[in-house]
Amino acid sequence: MLSSVRLVTRRAAVRSAFASSGRNLVAVRAASFWANVPQGPPAILGITEAFKADSFDKKINLGVGAYRDDQGKPYVLPSVRKAEDKVIHSRLNKEYAGITGVPEFTKAAAVLAYGKDSSALDRLVITQSISGTGALRIGGAFLARFFPGAKKIYIPTPSWANHGAVFRDSGLEVAQYAYYDKNTIGLDFEGLIRDLKAAPNNSIFLFHACAHNPTGVDPTPEQWKEIEAVVKDKGHYSFFDMAYQGFASGDIHKDAFAVRYFVEQGHNICLAQSFAKNMGLYGERIGAFSVVCADADEKKRVDSQVKILVRPLYSNPPIHGARIAAEILNTPELYEQWLAEVKEMADRIIKMRALLKENLEKLGSKHDWSHITSQIGMFAYTGLTPEQMDQLAKEHSVYATKDGRISVAGITSENVGRLAEAIFKVKG
Ligand SMILES: Cc1ncc(COP(=O)(O)O)c(C=O)c1O
Repeated sequence: MLSSVRLVTRRAAVRSAFASSGRNLVAVRAASFWANVPQGPPAILGITEAFKADSFDKKINLGVGAYRDDQGKPYVLPSVRKAEDKVIHSRLNKEYAGITGVPEFTKAAAVLAYGKDSSALDRLVITQSISGTGALRIGGAFLARFFPGAKKIYIPTPSWANHGAVFRDSGLEVAQYAYYDKNTIGLDFEGLIRDLKAAPNNSIFLFHACAHNPTGVDPTPEQWKEIEAVVKDKGHYSFFDMAYQGFASGDIHKDAFAVRYFVEQGHNICLAQSFAKNMGLYGERIGAFSVVCADADEKKRVDSQVKILVRPLYSNPPIHGARIAAEILNTPELYEQWLAEVKEMADRIIKMRALLKENLEKLGSKHDWSHITSQIGMFAYTGLTPEQMDQLAKEHSVYATKDGRISVAGITSENVGRLAEAIFKVKG
């Protein structure tokens, strides 16, 4: 035990050490555990900041990843409002959902994706997820843990900006396959087939089911059939990301063509679904991850392992968005209303594409803009260079990503003329 004299001396020494440095608090902070955490790279996009800082009242934001109405405003679907009112008025309790979520939701989500007569439904493992991103993440983790071949996933070039990070953080190696041809601003079909063939047998391939993000370029049904034949021949495993069912063409069946065709041809695929875009439930984070199994026994085993994966991640998913989506999918009148509203959103996007092309042609542009209308979904690849995109922002207050991608959702009947003029001035 320290004597009281020594104790007093020691306290005085500590006090004077801090006092003489004059930075006692700083001294404590300098010992932080996080002193060596490196700074991450600056946000690549920064569009929102630049857009906000621009005081021009006719500025245009084509960087948003969410649907906007023809007034440029966020849109809540009337069917969603109705379903939400019903959910709220039912005064349900707030108990936890099970690990795999709200069963009324997952059952209906499976039917929506695979079709009501699909052979997959009886042998399907499905779990609710934190929107499409969460579905991809669970899928990545499941493959990293159980895929019997190489733990490597091939994603298209380019792909949604988050795919690489999601799969790498899930424990998979990420490789790329050819997809987009910048010369034709279309699909590099030959390159895609070449890379499918060149990959080792039994590799994992990630396919965008419809409305490829960021290019808006999708294979035709005939091309999907050729892709399927090569995938089968090579014994590859298909992981579909369907973030835009219904939102692409306005028809939920047409947009699910590739997924359903692969299943019909005997592929036991896995699938990530999102209800962010087609129901406008962005912030509710509602999605699903499913695995088509060979039979009931396999289904039981896979189901147990999906639960084992999810449990330590977040225990069980949130219930509100699932209840809204379930209400829509399981109530015939609401379902019909929702189908019409999804089509309305898709049609507005399609109309804006046509108007943009028309306006550019009217201005006398000699450039071939047919890709604007042949591409599908919320995004369009304009083929503009990073320098031209810079010029659009600096000289015309039109903001979008440097890769030339524009969100068609940001185009309105009111701003499309000015947008066409800006693009015409930059590109000719
Ligand atoms: C291709 C693709 N996959 C997945 C997602 C995930 O979206 P969310 O997590 O909001 O459902 C997006 C969102 O933009 C996407 O474009």
